[in-house]
Amino acid sequence: MFRFLLLLSLSLLPSTSAQGCGMLSNCNGHGTCTVSTGKCSCYEGWGADTDIAYYKAPDCSKRVCPAGRAWGDVPTSATSAHALIECSNRGTCDRGSGACTCFDGFAGDACQRLKCPNDCSGHGQCLNVQRLASMTNAEPLSNATTYAGFETTHTWDEDMVYGCVCDSTWKVGLGAGKTQESEWFGNDCSLRRCPSGNDPRTAADETDCGGKAAKWSTEKGRTGNKCHVDCSNRGVCDYRTGTCACFVGYFGQACNEQSALATGG
Ligand SMILES: *[C@@H]1O[C@H](CO)[C@@H](O)[C@H](O)[C@H]1NC(C)=O
Repeated sequence: MFRFLLLLSLSLLPSTSAQGCGMLSNCNGHGTCTVSTGKCSCYEGWGADTDIAYYKAPDCSKRVCPAGRAWGDVPTSATSAHALIECSNRGTCDRGSGACTCFDGFAGDACQRLKCPNDCSGHGQCLNVQRLASMTNAEPLSNATTYAGFETTHTWDEDMVYGCVCDSTWKVGLGAGKTQESEWFGNDCSLRRCPSGNDPRTAADETDCGGKAAKWSTEKGRTGNKCHVDCSNRGVCDYRTGTCACFVGYFGQACNEQSALATGG
């Protein structure tokens, strides 16, 4: 009789605990239990059906991480790719904290964007290509345009790829009074142009960029637009410091002044 009762109670044990979500720690306080099935419906961020995650814990004990558009995934048609995915496929998810740890070169809570080279060296702004498209002072110079609105197709990178717009103490652009090249330059804005001037030995004004094509651009400078002429073409610019080493016979910060030596030569 005793043995029979023991067997009976043992055989009852699993079925009683399967009632509800006792074996799932009652969904850990991060979901609701469906008693009849013994399954948890986890809250958002803890593995809800609507969450995008590589892993969802049945007991709602693990967090999901922010999702961004995949840097690389399997396109689903000729014109669709970059579906939403945890950490944008460029980081690992810490399921305790719900934070992405991004791989080198990637940033953002979902690793959804690129970092700028050397963070623009402290001499520029790191902006996405959507912003860059709208700017008229970013090199190569061009008219403002729109690059946005098709994140799963041709503007997929509008908020994913970033570049530097380098600082400049003078105005940059194709318009009157603006100069075609910025003071700081290079893809990481680590280089600095030298003072500019008109070559004292020539009749032409080399600093006049009206009608002249901008570098790597299809646009030309408008009337009154300025060209930057490092050291007035009469010296060598040290781009690390932005200072001129003038040729013999020339002086001034931009080497645009001529001494008797030069005229005499
Ligand atoms: C850029 O703007 C200038 C001045 O407004 C204009 O003359 C030129 O045609 C524009 N270029 C393009 C490609 O739209």
